[in-house]
Amino acid sequence: MAAFAIHGDIIWAERLGKLEYIENGYIVVDGSVIASVSSEKPQGIKVIDESHHLVIPGLSDLHLHAPQYPFMGMYMDEELLTWLEKHTFPEEAKYSDAAYAERAYTQFADDLKRSATVNVSVFGTIHTDATLMLMDKLEEAGIAGYAGKVSMDRNSPPSLTEETDRAVEEVRRFIEEGASHDLMKPIITPRFIPSCSDALLEALGRIAADRGLPVQSHLDENPSEVEWVKELCPWAGSYAEAYDHFSLLGQRSIMAHCVWMQESEIDLLSRRGSYVAHSPSSNLNLSSGIAPIRRCIDKDVNIGLATDVAGGSTLSIMRVVQDAVTSSKMRWRYISKDEKPLSFPEAFYLATKGGGSFFGRTGSFEPGYDADIAVLSEKRCSTVISSGLSPAERLELYAYRSPDEDVVAKFVKGKRII
Ligand code: GUN
Ligand code: FE
Repeated sequence: MAAFAIHGDIIWAERLGKLEYIENGYIVVDGSVIASVSSEKPQGIKVIDESHHLVIPGLSDLHLHAPQYPFMGMYMDEELLTWLEKHTFPEEAKYSDAAYAERAYTQFADDLKRSATVNVSVFGTIHTDATLMLMDKLEEAGIAGYAGKVSMDRNSPPSLTEETDRAVEEVRRFIEEGASHDLMKPIITPRFIPSCSDALLEALGRIAADRGLPVQSHLDENPSEVEWVKELCPWAGSYAEAYDHFSLLGQRSIMAHCVWMQESEIDLLSRRGSYVAHSPSSNLNLSSGIAPIRRCIDKDVNIGLATDVAGGSTLSIMRVVQDAVTSSKMRWRYISKDEKPLSFPEAFYLATKGGGSFFGRTGSFEPGYDADIAVLSEKRCSTVISSGLSPAERLELYAYRSPDEDVVAKFVKGKRII
């Protein structure tokens, strides 16, 4: 790929709490990576004119459920366990039907393509073939990251309960057949402790270690779930320790939610280098609570943002940025005055370079980072004062006021997708 440049109002975050920006700047892309960002017009290469548009790094969604997209925005008057039983499991059971999966995953991939998200770590269902199809669709849509065939062999409806040996065989088949993609890779996906027997968790931990594969699951989302895990794993000192016992908590692990973590669990995640997929929108919708993100930051835990569709009611990570800020203020007000609320620049960092670090060098405009870039249109959120605002002010306004992510151009590893 020949080098080219994008001209616009460029904004990014290299470290927590600080936005960098260059108004009327140029990002030079060389092949699949960022070569430079500057205010000087580069000579001798094609310049794509996006002047007056905000140009941001592609966003990372560290946790969402593709098969739940059809009912996103419904059934929010429940807490986690009844929500799963009444609404989520019946929907996921439909993905044994290839024609249904095709229709649903086509729409999911199309909508994600139009968003500012570039990297995802996504759950499918227990159905291997449907989840492979999901990977194909995301790959075609120019989405990068990981997809997991979900593992479940207990406490689930019959239609979603695998026999343990077969569950392990199917994960092996998923890994083999899913490895052929460029952008989308397989990830080991035990749904959560309640839906996986010890034998299955042990086998999954071994496969992840043997093959060097990443892991995604749920941790400490809801008080009833946490109590249930205590009953299921009386030998474990905590929910996080239970995953750790099965070698499922490592540097390449994403744990979604982490709302009800004890201090010892924060310490354990920090020691292991695991990622918290902070899902504030979902945690509000399902009355799960507000995760102690400031405490995680203070203990150097890796953190990214996540929509957790369909607990979350949006595919937009920019909306999640807003919820991360807003909900942290309520935690500070109601729960702990020691936990300073997140600032907008902090939340934007988590949405970009913070979560992006799970996928590699993405989410920033530093030289050598993947050229993952989204160009935003502010048409739907501009006001009479917009023309006098800095890119940092415009970005905050965008997160709060744009009804969706209005993306006019998108590049994934230097390739134009929109
Ligand atoms: N815990 C186990 N499964 C799920 C799920 O599908 N969504 C959420 N939010 N939490 C879960
Ligand atoms: Fe989830």
